[in-house]
Amino acid sequence: MPDSLTFLGIESSCDDTAAAVVRHRPGLRPEILSSVVEGQVALHAAFGGVVPEIAARAHAERLDLCVEQALAKAGVTLSTLDGIAVTAGPGLIGGVLSGVMCAKGLAAATGLPLVGVNHLAGHALTPRLTDMVSYPYLMLLVSGGHCQFLLVEGAEAFTRLGGSIDDAPGEAFDKVAKILGLPQPGGPAIQAEAATGDAARFPLPRPLLDRPGCDMSFSGLKTAVLRQRDALVAAEGGLRRAARADLCAAFQRTVADILAEKSRRALAASGARLFAVAGGVAANAEIRARLQALCAQLKTDFLAPPLALCTDNAAMIAWAGMERFRRGGRDGMTLAARPRWPLDQHSPALLGSGKKGAKA
Ligand code: KG4
Ligand code: ZN
Repeated sequence: MPDSLTFLGIESSCDDTAAAVVRHRPGLRPEILSSVVEGQVALHAAFGGVVPEIAARAHAERLDLCVEQALAKAGVTLSTLDGIAVTAGPGLIGGVLSGVMCAKGLAAATGLPLVGVNHLAGHALTPRLTDMVSYPYLMLLVSGGHCQFLLVEGAEAFTRLGGSIDDAPGEAFDKVAKILGLPQPGGPAIQAEAATGDAARFPLPRPLLDRPGCDMSFSGLKTAVLRQRDALVAAEGGLRRAARADLCAAFQRTVADILAEKSRRALAASGARLFAVAGGVAANAEIRARLQALCAQLKTDFLAPPLALCTDNAAMIAWAGMERFRRGGRDGMTLAARPRWPLDQHSPALLGSGKKGAKA
């Protein structure tokens, strides 16, 4: 096996079509030679959520172009690659299939090794791509489709310590934004409104906070915001701007409280000395500050990779594929697309099926 590896990564499990080229020479920092991400927000905007059929069609139409662009930007050709890594699940099955078929076609035509990657492993291994961190470490994955604590002990050794039993936090941000008449994606919109709000005016429930363990629940919180909005509309004849800002601040504070307390427990349970976050919700300033403060208090290192690598991308897939490949991982033309694929085979599956596809 060559010491230096250059891999093409392909990602299409949700609403981002992505391709990237990553090179790694052992002992040196991995290089992201290119990372192309084609989002689909505009395609789904009118529907208030990701429409699987539209997503799958858009992936199928755009994958070739994304791969071409990634190769061109990296200044490489297919013949100079050492392998192709592709997300084989979990996710929306039509999208995952589009990526797997594209990767199989390229592998068959070039004879390059094909490596199927679990999308969640891509997120979980990102701190090694960006900061060469060593195992073990604790990862909190918080996005529109994921919410779980993972103890990462190896490229294929993950233990889930807990997660959301219903909505992912990003999903809750998006739904609350909709309830309050704010634009999508809800996270940034709520964060902006919350900046001028009073987080103490509306006490909101903190489900599962009083129960032991690291599981979380966010769907009751969304319903509580809805009830509060209806009460305000009934009492004041409408939702005033200041009240909306207060509700946003209260909601954001509550999510931060839940994530911070459960992170404290996950850190204690795992004994990890490094805590990494990933996913779009990790971009939230209040949440990030709370987690950072918690780590400072516990004398634990805190790592939040750059946002472009926290959210869905193909560089993380190329990297996770390379880690698997170095351990002898290979797939053939029988590689299957899996809508559900828990990283930790031993923990019970999480409930629910998020707005952005099946939760693992
Ligand atoms: O990781 P991501 O880009 O996509 C997936 O879900 O896979 O995460 C998107 C989610 C959306 O639900 C969005 O509302 C949320 O991340 N988000 C935020 C912020 N920026 C994005 N949530 C809270 N605060 C933010 N600043
Ligand atoms: Zn993701």
